[in-house]
Amino acid sequence: MATLLITGATSGLGLHVAQQLADQGRHHLILPMRDARRGLALADALRQGGALAVHTPELDLASLHDVSRFLRTFESAHALSSIDGVLLNAGVQSAQALSFTVDGLETTFAVNHLAHLMLIQGLMKHLAPGAIVGWTASGTHDPCELMARLSGFRGARYTGAQALAKGEHDAGTSDAQACRDAYATSKLCNIVTAQAFAQTWAETGWRFFAFDPGMMPGTGLAREHGALTQWMWQHVLPRLARILPGTSLPASSAAVLSRLITDLPAATPSGAYFGFKGQRLTPARSARSSWVIEDLMRTSATLLTPFHPN
Ligand SMILES: NC(=O)c1ccc[n+]([C@@H]2O[C@H](COP(=O)([O-])OP(=O)(O)OC[C@H]3O[C@@H](n4cnc5c(N)ncnc54)[C@H](OP(=O)(O)O)[C@@H]3O)[C@@H](O)[C@H]2O)c1
Repeated sequence: MATLLITGATSGLGLHVAQQLADQGRHHLILPMRDARRGLALADALRQGGALAVHTPELDLASLHDVSRFLRTFESAHALSSIDGVLLNAGVQSAQALSFTVDGLETTFAVNHLAHLMLIQGLMKHLAPGAIVGWTASGTHDPCELMARLSGFRGARYTGAQALAKGEHDAGTSDAQACRDAYATSKLCNIVTAQAFAQTWAETGWRFFAFDPGMMPGTGLAREHGALTQWMWQHVLPRLARILPGTSLPASSAAVLSRLITDLPAATPSGAYFGFKGQRLTPARSARSSWVIEDLMRTSATLLTPFHPN
C-alpha cells in the first residue's frame, strides 16, 4: 500500500488523479480540501471506487495560518505514518482583477506557490524512503507556448518574490493581463521550487518533478471568467481538445500524472519537468535562472517565517 497526499482533488485534474489511483485498489489517499462536506462524499465515492483508505482533512490553502494548523493536526494524526507521494496540484486563476488572501498576499502567488511550499516543507519529515513529490505547473509560464499565447498569456514575469506577493505588476498592464501574468508566474514558481528541492535534497533518494498538464478545458479553473469564456471552456473546447495543439483532457493528463506520482521513471533526474504525454520538457529560460531560484527560495522563506508551526 502506498500513502499519497494530493491537493486540489475536489475537481478537474486532481479529481481524475484521485479516481484513477483509487481504481488501482492499493493506495491510501490523503486529500486535503477546504470543504469538509464535499470531502466526506468524495471519500465515500473513492472507497467504493477501490481506495484502501481515504482521508479528507480540511485545509484552506488561501490561509497560511490554516496550513500551519493543518501541519500541527497532521503531526498528531499521522505521527507514525509515512507518505510515499505528495502531489501539490491545487491551483487558482483570477480573471478580472488580482485579489488578496487573509494574509494580505496576492492570491495566485499565495495559493499556487507559497502555501504549497509551506505544506511540503512541513511534510518532509513524513516522507518515506524513495518518496516522490510533484507540482502541477503550466506551460503558461513559457512565453513561447502557442495555446497560452493565443489565450492572452505572455509568459511568466518574475520581478521578485516580494513584488509578486504584493501583487505589483508593470505600469500600464490591464487588470485582466495582470491576472494572467500572476498565474503564469505562480506556475513558474512551481517549476523553480521542484528544481530547488531536487538540489537541496539530492542525497536523500527523494525525487521531485513538475508537470504541465496542457490546456485542459472543462475543469473548474475558468470559474472566475465571464459567461461566454466559461461556456466555451466547458462545452466547446473539450470537443476540440484532440485537434488543438498543447491541449489535453483532464482524464488523459491525469493518467500520465498518476503514473509519475507513483512510479517516476528511475532514469530521469530529480527536478525534471514533464509534459502531458509524459515527455521531458525544457522549462522557459527564466525558470532556469539562478537569480530566480535564489530569490524565490530566500524570499519565500522570509514570507513564511511568521506562519511556521512551533
Ligand atoms: N485547466 C488547465 O487548462 C490547466 C492548465 C495547466 C495547469 N493547470 C493546473 O492544474 C491544476 C488543477 O487545476 P484544474 O484545471 O483541475 O482546476 P480546478 O478544477 O479548478 O481544480 C482546482 C483545485 O484546486 C483547489 N483549490 C483552489 N483553491 C484552494 C484553496 N484555497 N484551498 C484548497 N484547495 C483549493 C480546488 O478546490 P475547490 O473545489 O474547493 O475550489 C480544486 O480542487 C492547477 O494547479 C492548475 O493551475 C490547469
